[in-house]
Amino acid sequence: MSRNPQLDEAARAILRRNDRGGYTVPTQGLYPFQWNWDSAFVALGFATFDRDRAWAELETLVDAQWDDGMIPHIVFHQNDDGYFPGPTVWATGKTPPTSGITQPPVLASVVRQLWQQEGADPAHPRLRPLFDACLKSHRWFHAFRDPLGNGLVLVTHNWETGRDNSSEWDEALARVDTSEVGPYQRRDTGHVDAAMRPQSHEYDRYVAILQFGRKAGWNHRTIAEQGPFRMLDVGMSMELLRANRDLLVIAEAIGDERVADELRDRIALSETGMDWLWNEEVGAWCSRDATTGQSSGLVTNASFLAFYARVGRAEQRARLIEALERMTRSATYLLPSLEPGSRAYDHRRYWRGPVWLVVSYMVAQGLAEQGHADWAARIREDSAKLIEVSGFYESFSPETGEGTGGAEFSWTAAMWLAWCGR
Ligand code: GLC
Repeated sequence: MSRNPQLDEAARAILRRNDRGGYTVPTQGLYPFQWNWDSAFVALGFATFDRDRAWAELETLVDAQWDDGMIPHIVFHQNDDGYFPGPTVWATGKTPPTSGITQPPVLASVVRQLWQQEGADPAHPRLRPLFDACLKSHRWFHAFRDPLGNGLVLVTHNWETGRDNSSEWDEALARVDTSEVGPYQRRDTGHVDAAMRPQSHEYDRYVAILQFGRKAGWNHRTIAEQGPFRMLDVGMSMELLRANRDLLVIAEAIGDERVADELRDRIALSETGMDWLWNEEVGAWCSRDATTGQSSGLVTNASFLAFYARVGRAEQRARLIEALERMTRSATYLLPSLEPGSRAYDHRRYWRGPVWLVVSYMVAQGLAEQGHADWAARIREDSAKLIEVSGFYESFSPETGEGTGGAEFSWTAAMWLAWCGR
């Protein structure tokens, strides 16, 4: 693939425009604060032209880490009435104000990349504080979010998964009581077409779960044990396993044997624990309800993170490749977030069909590492085409390639620079 200097420059311009000094907003208007996993991917984009700024993005994020170890999903660096739910709704009492939930733990994987790009010096001056923050955050997951003790990740709000309205959550959300929610004003549909956003009955449930956390004083033990939404998320389970592997590489390089042993134990636990998410009927790893034990039975883009996490037996991986083949038959552009034709599929509605480049990137990376170079190339070329055809949108229709959600999106620009535009 040849480089496209105009798109390179446009991507850099988006990152510079969305830069608020030490952190980057995902897009103007719709998301006016710092988001956890967005920042990690954005750092990969900055790393292609401003190394200092890349590290700073991550350092600003971990500055907001809670004492218990959680890295919050949003950091509200300044007020903005154009967003709901803002800091006064979350009421976590933190400085700077943050939300009370987390997001996918991809930070350690990005730290490893930045550090290796600069020669993997164990004494790199910016490595240690980030290593410590990642370790603390991973320990938080193990202490608060592993109810079965098998290395999977429990999520207590669908927003934690980063795949906000994926149909994987529909059945669990349907049980959430919304009778006490009260009136509130959504802001997202004032910025983008409502047909591309979650529906209002869904939003009520998101707010009800938030309100449970607030009433629990953001006590993460109470929320994990008694909260109204308790899912074992395939995406975060795979991402944390990968992040533990990446953190282990750093622990070994800096010679921290005690931490290296701890990480090896966690990795071994998650490798076998992942079988709990395997769904033999659909031939893929799927999210599973921790309260009812029921598998979602849905193949989503997160299922394909198995390659990135390096899990599964040969026959399981072969079946997952069959699922990828099914996707290719029905979608013009890989990788849709939900299998076209399945229940609740909608090619324009957020995580119910559209292509999201950050997930595609991790999936392609895993496929390339695991001997599926052709698939990795196909996903990467499709991703580049989507940007060439439509611009740097939040997400894209896998059928028409139309941009969906917010425009001039930071993580899409970053993925162009760090991956599919190279
Ligand atoms: C949406 C996405 C989430 C992302 C956030 C900011 O909520 O679902 O994954 O982190 O926007 O871009």
